[in-house]
Amino acid sequence: MSHPYPPDHRQPVLGASSLPPLTEDTHWYRRAVFYEVMVQSFKDSNGDGIGDFPGLMSTLDYLSWLGVDCLWVPPFYPSPGKDDGYDVADYMSVNPAYGTLEDFTRFVREAHVRGIRVLVDMVLNHTSDQHPWFQSSREDPAGPFGDFYVWRDTPTGYPDVRVIFTDTEESNWAWDPVRRQFYWHRFFSHQPDLNYENPAVRRAVIDVVRFWCSTGVDGFRLDAIPYLFEEEGTNGESLPATHHFIATLREVIDTEFPGTVMLAEANQPPRDVVAYFGSDDQPECHMCFHFPVMPRIFQALREESSQGLRTILAETPPLPQGGQWAMFLRNHDELTLEMVSDEERDNMYRWYAPDPQMRANVGIGRRLAPLLHGSQREVEIAHALLLSLPGSPFLYYGDEIGMGDDYTLPDRYGVRTPMQWDAGPGGGFSDADPADFVLPMVSSPGWDHRAINVSQSRQREHSLLNWLRKMLAVRREHPAFGIGSMSLLSTDDDAVLAFLRRDESETILCVTNLSSSSRAVRIQLPGMGGWGLKDLATGHSFPTVNEHEYVDITLPRHSFYWLSVSMPKEQA
Ligand code: GLC
Ligand code: CA
Repeated sequence: MSHPYPPDHRQPVLGASSLPPLTEDTHWYRRAVFYEVMVQSFKDSNGDGIGDFPGLMSTLDYLSWLGVDCLWVPPFYPSPGKDDGYDVADYMSVNPAYGTLEDFTRFVREAHVRGIRVLVDMVLNHTSDQHPWFQSSREDPAGPFGDFYVWRDTPTGYPDVRVIFTDTEESNWAWDPVRRQFYWHRFFSHQPDLNYENPAVRRAVIDVVRFWCSTGVDGFRLDAIPYLFEEEGTNGESLPATHHFIATLREVIDTEFPGTVMLAEANQPPRDVVAYFGSDDQPECHMCFHFPVMPRIFQALREESSQGLRTILAETPPLPQGGQWAMFLRNHDELTLEMVSDEERDNMYRWYAPDPQMRANVGIGRRLAPLLHGSQREVEIAHALLLSLPGSPFLYYGDEIGMGDDYTLPDRYGVRTPMQWDAGPGGGFSDADPADFVLPMVSSPGWDHRAINVSQSRQREHSLLNWLRKMLAVRREHPAFGIGSMSLLSTDDDAVLAFLRRDESETILCVTNLSSSSRAVRIQLPGMGGWGLKDLATGHSFPTVNEHEYVDITLPRHSFYWLSVSMPKEQA
């Protein structure tokens, strides 16, 4: 069989993205493939052991070759680095270790030249305690920043609000010895929450957003967005005032920087997440991460059952016009288990984090490939779901080569280790002494950069990387994966998930065998008797749907098909 997308190790395919020119398509995010890249861990250009913007810029041809349409860059602002940059000390400049503002804007321009867009992380809920606003607030309660944070004389307010960082925090209040008052924090105690009741705070953060819009970025990932406002007697999540502020932000963006995309990080049950899209009249975010579906993918693989996925997909409400889910398998945080039942959580820990060191907060601090025991087949079907479920896929850097983790590192740093580019001494990440790297490279046998790296993966025809690149290319040719509707189909085997993706020009049948044994399955295709099936990746024909409107398909263990379903010519 000829390979439709031969891996080419010499000639990067420039501008592989097939999205229309950057300014013309306001719905680009509904068809795009996203890639989360931590600048500090990706590529170091100046030999100090810390990844930087010139380094990231030098990898754009690789990302374009892979088929990435948009990058999500976690916080790169000046920061004491106690939460890997999510503790922002200055909203309007670049962490000098990562480069200058000019390096950043050059990176954005170069990305755009290749048809790649850029989303930046906006941490609007809190700042670092090193931020000048906080310093001023604690030292001068009557001054202009005195009311920028949530101060109280006693640590007793908002008792119904949960603690998120259970590994390190016992309370959402912390004592400040300078102001001699308590301040409110949803995350680490060194991250005081901004006081959104104060209009000056709201104006200040809107100006921050304007500033980054003016650098040419294509959108924002809105960090920790459910927690902006607090209110006594509530759990402090997703309050009406918070939604109102997000809608205001959207209005500003739509008026002043139309086309700029807002993506919500709202780890909430489906019906609450969906509120972050707003309504047709009062839109909020263009995209929201689909937190509830993610753990169900991992559950499905161990239970060898599609039940959990079916349930959550059925519970996922329809989106307003132009809304799109952001689908992901892993990211820079723990695999969060906040949105599953206690029993499901226990199972997930048993399957995926048998060693307590693998746990982080309410979740699992591991990367995709080691979670799935290095099984390329399982990693592939997890990706097949990621790419075919309704939404836009978000890849996490390194997962495309099946990179490992180091769960002995503290907090969530075990999944943020340097990108493994080649088998050389610094793994192609940096020329510095590896002892000086921002984080140690993965060193466990079979997972280190000599065993797993981009360069080798590109050369190996059947590597995960070449497979993923091929599937991204297949996906790109079929916009129904991005913008089509989804309907679940019934099968006679629970281990097989089957659904249709459909837009006005095509119908795609996605069938996934979640189990570790081969399955013969009968799939009902109502109204499609006589229709033909063809494998999207290979072009091979499959049996025609019979007059009783079903088809029998055999799937090897952990395998999937994406089949185009088309009406016979005489009916068309
Ligand atoms: C978000 C980020 C996480 C960070 C937290 C606090 O959940 O993804 O990395 O620690 O916000 O900013
Ligand atoms: Ca550097």
